[in-house]
Amino acid sequence: MEIRVEHLTKRFYDRGRRQTTTAVSDLTLTAPDGALMGLLGPSGCGKSTTLNMICGLEKPDEGRIFFGGEDVTDLPPEVRGVGMVFQNYALYPHLTVLQNILFPLENLKGAARPSREEMVRRARETAALVEIEALLDRRPRELSGGQQQRVAIARALVKRPRVLLLDEPLSNLDARLRLQTREEICRIQRETGITTLFVTHDQEEAMSISHRIAVMREGLLMQEGAPQQVYDDPACLFVARFLGTPPINVFSGEVRRGALLLDGRAVLEVPEAADGPVWAGIRPEGFLPRPDGPLRCALSRVEVLGRDVSMVCTHPACENGSLRAIVPSRREAEASGGAFALRPDKVFLFDREREIRIPFRAARA
Ligand SMILES: Nc1ncnc2c1ncn2[C@@H]1O[C@H](COP(=O)(O)OP(=O)(O)OP(=O)(O)O)[C@@H](O)[C@H]1O
Ligand SMILES: [Mg+2]
Repeated sequence: MEIRVEHLTKRFYDRGRRQTTTAVSDLTLTAPDGALMGLLGPSGCGKSTTLNMICGLEKPDEGRIFFGGEDVTDLPPEVRGVGMVFQNYALYPHLTVLQNILFPLENLKGAARPSREEMVRRARETAALVEIEALLDRRPRELSGGQQQRVAIARALVKRPRVLLLDEPLSNLDARLRLQTREEICRIQRETGITTLFVTHDQEEAMSISHRIAVMREGLLMQEGAPQQVYDDPACLFVARFLGTPPINVFSGEVRRGALLLDGRAVLEVPEAADGPVWAGIRPEGFLPRPDGPLRCALSRVEVLGRDVSMVCTHPACENGSLRAIVPSRREAEASGGAFALRPDKVFLFDREREIRIPFRAARA
């Protein structure tokens, strides 16, 4: 079922500072039917507030929320058909796993409430889906973090919700369990086909499992699209910086007569870009080590990553002085002496003031 929000706005009054914060500002966004959509952005950008409005825990000041075309904005949370998993799972410690999963069903009222046998059947079926059938008699404290996480997901799914909302579901897990659990979430989402909004501030996580991602900043939607498309075609410097590890390298540069100048030297043809000062963002994989390349950096060291190597270099026009290039071989890295040609599709120019992307016609490398 498609989730659509239109012009969603939420303000909070901060008594301490006696001012209003706009947590979410005129947010319009669609998660297509059956999609896993990653909602990402730095701490405080309005991700949880967005989910809380979608599930009905917070009331928007402005805007509407639609599930499959139905306006649910004024519906109370319990009839919206939303499964929500909170960051801290919030399992009931004194209940067994089975009782925890049954809980939302037992809270159903009237005709919606299934028979006891049907409840148990559904709880077991959902437990099987998240592969915790063997743990049904345990209590939460007898489970690992990843297992607790799965109980929380089962509890969200047992009512067969129309949409699933996950708020930073992996943040309490260690690196290995995180990877495993995110694959599990992918599988469960695929098997159920349930439209899912997944909140994270980890861009790698969002990129790797989402069909679409939406990047927020200070309550505003900055960009939405397929992960690769947003990575390859960032609309602004903020989004370019937010996606990618190691992060994009940012230089203070200038466009003059169709060439990008860094520290006064032409390093790339950028036909059709207007003259003036720019931020130039270069992805780590956009540097081609060439002894005669136009971008001359000083090579500080070569770090072995396994498959590739990382060249750490300094350049006067680069933010913080140093940059990181990812290249395939150590031999090539050392032979270049820190000189590079640039892949034009990995170089982005941004307006110096507004930090919005400035297009140029990419010539061949
Ligand atoms: N109940 C509230 N009262 C006042 N301000 C609030 C309230 N809830 C959230 N805010 C403010 O709204 C903004 C957005 O908060 P929100 O919790 O949505 O951020 P977030 O993107 O989920 O961040 P995080 O990644 O840290 O969880 C923040 O500035 C926060 O301080
Ligand atoms: Mg949050």
